[in-house]
Amino acid sequence: TEQLKARLFEIHSVAGRFYHEVLQSDEGTIARSYMEGRKLQPNISRKFGLGYAPERRGALMEHLKEKGYSIQDMLQSGLVIENKEKNGYHDRFRGRLMFPIFDPQGRVVGFGGRIIGKGEPKYLNSPETILFSKSRNLYGLNFARAARKKELILVEGYMDMISLYQAGFHNVVAALGTAFNQEHARALKKFAEDIILLYDSDEAGTNAALRAIPVLTANGFRVRVTQVPDGKDPDDFIKQNGAVEFSKLLVNAVHYISFEIACIQKKYNLNNPEHRVRFATEAADILSKLDNAIERNVYAGEVSRMTGVEEGAIRSEIDKRVQKED
Ligand code: UTP
Ligand code: MN
Ligand code: MN
Ligand code: MN
Ligand code: MN
Repeated sequence: TEQLKARLFEIHSVAGRFYHEVLQSDEGTIARSYMEGRKLQPNISRKFGLGYAPERRGALMEHLKEKGYSIQDMLQSGLVIENKEKNGYHDRFRGRLMFPIFDPQGRVVGFGGRIIGKGEPKYLNSPETILFSKSRNLYGLNFARAARKKELILVEGYMDMISLYQAGFHNVVAALGTAFNQEHARALKKFAEDIILLYDSDEAGTNAALRAIPVLTANGFRVRVTQVPDGKDPDDFIKQNGAVEFSKLLVNAVHYISFEIACIQKKYNLNNPEHRVRFATEAADILSKLDNAIERNVYAGEVSRMTGVEEGAIRSEIDKRVQKED
C-alpha cells in the first residue's frame, strides 16, 4: 500500500496541474470570470493551485490514462467514479472551480469543487480515500504553518481562508464545513496555542462555533471568538470592508466564555425577572465548568452587570455546582 499511496499522491499532483492548466485555457474562461467576480487574484490562484474541471465527462480520466495510470488507481483516488449504469467511468468533478486540498507537507490529497454560479451541491469534495479524510485534513494548514504564528484563525470555508490570506492574514485554516473534531484539534496543536474562532455569523455558523469551543478547550487551546456582522461570512466582509476593518474584528475577539454567555442571553428578555433568573442560572452552569477560579469570578461579575443580580448570589450558585463536580 505504500506504493499505492505514492501513486495516489502522483495522481493528485497530475490532476491539480491538469485542472490548473484548463483554467488558463479557453475552456476555463467561465471559471476565470467567476474568479474575477469573487476578486480572486491570479497570483493567489497560482499559490493555491486553483483550477477548473471541464464539463467533458472523461477529461481528467483520459489525461490520466495518457499518463499511464490504471482505472483501479483512478477509482482509489476518488477523482474518477463509476457510471450509474455501471458500464463505464467518468470524472467526479465537472464544470467546477477546483480547490486542491493540501496536507500539512503541501502535497495535494484531495479537492473541493465549487459550482460556477448557483446549484447543488455548492461544493463537491473528494470522498474519504487513503490520502484524504474530511475529519482530519484542515484546509490551508500548509500555508498557515508557514506564517509561524502561535495564533491561528479558524474559519468555515475555502473562500474565507483564501480571502483572508489574500488580504494579508496568513495564519488562517478552514475546517471545510465539517464539525470541528478531536483529530482536527490534534493536527492544529502541532502549530498553534491560540485560536480565534471566526465562523459565519448565520445560525449554522454560530451553532458550529459553540460546538467547536469544548473540543478546542479540551485540547488546551486558548480560545477567543469573533464574528462578522449581519449574517455574513469573513470572505464577504473583507471584500466589502477591507483589511483594516477586518483587523478590528480580530482585536475585538472575546474570550469564549463571553461568547457563550452572549449566545444564551439572546434566548432571554432581561427585562423579565423570570428570564433574568433563568439566564443567570444557565450562565452559572457554564461558568462552573471553568477550571480557573479567577476566571469564574471575572465572568460572574459580567453576568451580574447584565442582570442586576448581586455578584455574590451568582458566585454562590457557581460554587455549588463546582463542589458537585469535584
Ligand atoms: P458555506 O455554505 O458557508 O459556503 O460553507 P462558503 O464557503 O461561504 O461558500 P461560497 O462563499 O458561497 O463559495 C462553508 C464550507 O462548508 C463546506 C465547504 O468547505 C464550504 O467552504 N461545504 C459547503 C461543502 O463541503 N459542501 C457544500 O455543499 C456546502
Ligand atoms: Mn492530456
Ligand atoms: Mn456557512
Ligand atoms: Mn462565502
Ligand atoms: Mn460561508
